[in-house]
Amino acid sequence: MTTTAGTPHPQTRRSFLTRVGVVGGASALYGSMEALGLFATPAEAATPGFAPPSAADLPDSARGRGTKVVILGAGTAGLTAAYELGKAGYDCTVLEARDRPGGRAKTVRRGDRLTDTDGVTQVCRFDEGQYFNAGPARIPNHHVTLDYCRELGVPIEALVNANAESLYFHENTGGTDYGELAGTAVTHRQAKADVYGYVSELLAQAANQGALDQLLTADDAERVVELANSLGGLSGGRYAGNSRRGYVDAPGAGHDAGVVGTPPSMSAILQSRFGTRFAFEFGFDQAMMMWQPVGGMDRISAALAAAVGGKRRITYNAPVTQIANGPDGVRVSYRLNGRTRTIDADYCVATIPPMVLKSIPTNFSQATKDALAVPTGANTGKIGLQYGRRWWEEDDKIFGGITATNMDVSGIWYPSSGFLGRKGVVVGYYSGSYTDLPVAAREERAVAQGVKIHGTRYRDELETSISIAWPKEQYSLGGWVNWPGGRGAAYDQLLRPDGRTYFAGDHLSYLIAWQAGAFESARQVVTALHERVAATAA
Ligand code: FAD
Ligand code: ALA
Repeated sequence: MTTTAGTPHPQTRRSFLTRVGVVGGASALYGSMEALGLFATPAEAATPGFAPPSAADLPDSARGRGTKVVILGAGTAGLTAAYELGKAGYDCTVLEARDRPGGRAKTVRRGDRLTDTDGVTQVCRFDEGQYFNAGPARIPNHHVTLDYCRELGVPIEALVNANAESLYFHENTGGTDYGELAGTAVTHRQAKADVYGYVSELLAQAANQGALDQLLTADDAERVVELANSLGGLSGGRYAGNSRRGYVDAPGAGHDAGVVGTPPSMSAILQSRFGTRFAFEFGFDQAMMMWQPVGGMDRISAALAAAVGGKRRITYNAPVTQIANGPDGVRVSYRLNGRTRTIDADYCVATIPPMVLKSIPTNFSQATKDALAVPTGANTGKIGLQYGRRWWEEDDKIFGGITATNMDVSGIWYPSSGFLGRKGVVVGYYSGSYTDLPVAAREERAVAQGVKIHGTRYRDELETSISIAWPKEQYSLGGWVNWPGGRGAAYDQLLRPDGRTYFAGDHLSYLIAWQAGAFESARQVVTALHERVAATAA
């Protein structure tokens, strides 16, 4: 949850509104909200401490009336809006263009069909029980996503986002020479020991030689040396390698103490630039522990869809074709079974990604139309490679985690489920570089890249693959949004309702490319809509 810099703190506004509401009743609340511009800025009307709407918040006149809300899109944001509004008895209908809930939260399993905007269809041939998360794959501890998993009873398991046994691989590319380690796969364990070791050696030497005397007291210089010795595993102030980097000959029984390899030189380690990769796992949203729903990310949207009432509330295969705000309600047209139908509602929540929504005819204000045209779709995609043997576990002792590369595949993900099983699905790229390749060429190229790291078993033991290019998904047109130039006036515009239509989705949050952004955005709109209904229904 975030507040917009320069705007009053939402809690302050809420306290004020609560006071006004208590003293003056709903009409006074409505007037005050208008005066504060809260209808124009629902972002500010939401609160950090979200409370689901309750029928008890509504005046008697509104309670049994069943305010109708049509929600466009059954992705995370749309389902959350329906779920939360449903708690207060709103009469919600969700229109979804695809034949399933979840939107970008797509888990690919046997029999799934992916048809892209070029008209190319792939059918998933994974074995029963095998899957890969083509969109979201990881959830950090602090995201509201886990609160929904708890509330909806969706079991979670660890997602291995960092693993000492997974690899770094840098090849010489783009005119950069990565030195003697170029083209060599090195475990995270080894790279970290060597980078921390040498950097610590430099620090210890600098402190011991007085180079930091201007910055440190003598006592602090000693503490720096103590820190460097510990961090780097130094002996006599030097880094010479140690067991942290792993063994070339593992220890065993009796007198077998094992053999630790000699590290490359400090220069080779610096030239490898492996150290520049470590910051990834320091990231607020990427640090372990990370989580995934057991059985696939789409288990969350499946649970949400069930909680809102399933097909009783959600109409699938129903692409929205027109949105018309009126003074007293919203009329939405959609296609279903070859016919155009309409639905009238008091309010609308549009969670269709802006790259798609901008092309749907509406009577939105010009400012809203202009704003919808601003965000651009991020180019990203993934390939799932099913192997007949979990060679990464059997041969390399890699149990989950990601191999980071400077190749166009970006990373190679080993599955964080099905450990010790027979087969598994590896994510062979997570990248936009493959979007414009034909499907077969994507596999061919991704496999050729993987062979550089894992050898020919990467090709020989492959059984089947399926890939997704998010810009070519008709109802997404991008993996997530970019706001060119940052969140500016267009972003602010879409935080406001256009008449009776509200906008929600991860693109309207500071958690873009996270389901948490969709959850938070939906909550914000639910709060704003509920406060408006409470204020106007009196
Ligand atoms: P969407 O899921 O896009 O929902 C919009 C819905 O509108 C869709 O169901 C769509 O079909 C529907 N729609 C579109 N057009 C129409 C129409 N004309 N009529 C009716 N319905 C329509 N998040 C994480 O938490 N963790 C991750 O690790 C992570 N990784 C990601 C990796 C990738 C490759 C991608 C693509 C996304 C990732 N995300 C991740 C982000 C996450 O997927 C999104 O933040 C979230 O799913 C967005 O939900 P939404 O409801 O805002 O949008
Ligand atoms: N949030 C997305 C991920 O972690 C981008 O992969």
